[in-house]
Amino acid sequence: MDRTSELSGFYKLTPEERLQYVKEFAGLTEEETEAIAATGSMKIDDVNRMIENVIGTFELPLGIATHFRINGEDKLIPMAIEEPSVVAAASKAAKIARAGGGFYTTSTDPIMIGQVQIVDVPDPQSARFKVLEKKEEILKLANEQDPVLVKFGGGAKDVEVRVIDSPKGPMVIVHLLVDCRDAMGANAVNTMAEAVGPLLERITGGRVYLRIISNLAVYRLARARATFPKEELGGEDVVDAVIEAWAFAAADPFRCATHNKGIMNGVSAVVRATGNDTRAVEAGAHSYAYYKHGHYGPLTYYEKDSQGNLVGTIELPVAVGTIGGATKVHPVARASLKILGVKSAKELGEVLAAVGLAQNFAALRALATEGIQRGHMALHARNIAAMVGAKGEEIDILVQRMVEMKKVRMDIAEQLLKEIRGEK
Ligand code: MEV
Repeated sequence: MDRTSELSGFYKLTPEERLQYVKEFAGLTEEETEAIAATGSMKIDDVNRMIENVIGTFELPLGIATHFRINGEDKLIPMAIEEPSVVAAASKAAKIARAGGGFYTTSTDPIMIGQVQIVDVPDPQSARFKVLEKKEEILKLANEQDPVLVKFGGGAKDVEVRVIDSPKGPMVIVHLLVDCRDAMGANAVNTMAEAVGPLLERITGGRVYLRIISNLAVYRLARARATFPKEELGGEDVVDAVIEAWAFAAADPFRCATHNKGIMNGVSAVVRATGNDTRAVEAGAHSYAYYKHGHYGPLTYYEKDSQGNLVGTIELPVAVGTIGGATKVHPVARASLKILGVKSAKELGEVLAAVGLAQNFAALRALATEGIQRGHMALHARNIAAMVGAKGEEIDILVQRMVEMKKVRMDIAEQLLKEIRGEK
């Protein structure tokens, strides 16, 4: 076979034909090929419609975080993630928060920003005013693009205009503020932004360039608050330790990147489980972490209440939907939304905030006390034991010995397995 990646018309093949080509190209075994071809809960036709050049699917574990109580209601939280310890940590944090009443959440309306970039405007400051004068006309035109969204109470609600200094000179940037109701909204917002382009050119005398949603969704925020009782934490020293750990993130971008990454471990796992766009939410979270502070800072905040308990809060953008896209097509995403019992995108966003706070608290508590590795070690050891071929109770013995030795490594596992099997 001619090993080439120059494959015009590859998209016209069926998934099976494409996979056959890849199998030959890469020398995949039967077993590897079958692993790719297995579509799990989905039908290959649906998978094939979701993205281009499909050859199969990629599976991830779906776990359930327990103990969550949000606004007085018990919730089971589906999380799709490959990283060990995340689900256990969220559950543990939720258990501690539960003793303080659980999580309390609020959110803004689901407003996304559609940006229209206008260049070569001779008088940008007065153009800004002219656009604002025509606000109603712009909104009407935008809303004509999506009567269904408008019928459900959503649609373009407001217009903002900014004049920015760029390396290519001043630009007029128009923001369409669109209430997306239960949709993530990228399609609706992009369509509206494109539709108002010619009108904005006429109003400003400039040239419209990009028309696209912004992932810095500062008007689509979710918030969560929880009290972690000091007795459940192991005393006021631990409360202080968590606040100290948080303060490190507040003062240092190197630490803060990891602090916020830990938050997104939980948030993205739920975003993924519900078929939403993890990249949109990640981009929103990290850019908001900058926007909120005027420098890169933590998405969470910790302080002590009058009784010495730890109080944690979080606020982050949540560009997620409960209708449209993979949330409807993917059977597991649909089931995850049902497990969560959320009735709107707004409610889903609030769950994300609660999970993010739980995940962050769990990480800070572990880091500030026993360190993160102890919790990770047993799970890691289990994986290593399986990788060296241990079976059944051999796995338990290997895990126990490696954890005792504080050495979780392949070479140690191989050696121990030989010893267990009397093959010294
Ligand atoms: C690991 O995936 C996440 C943590 O590093 C987060 C943190 O350090 O806060 C544990």
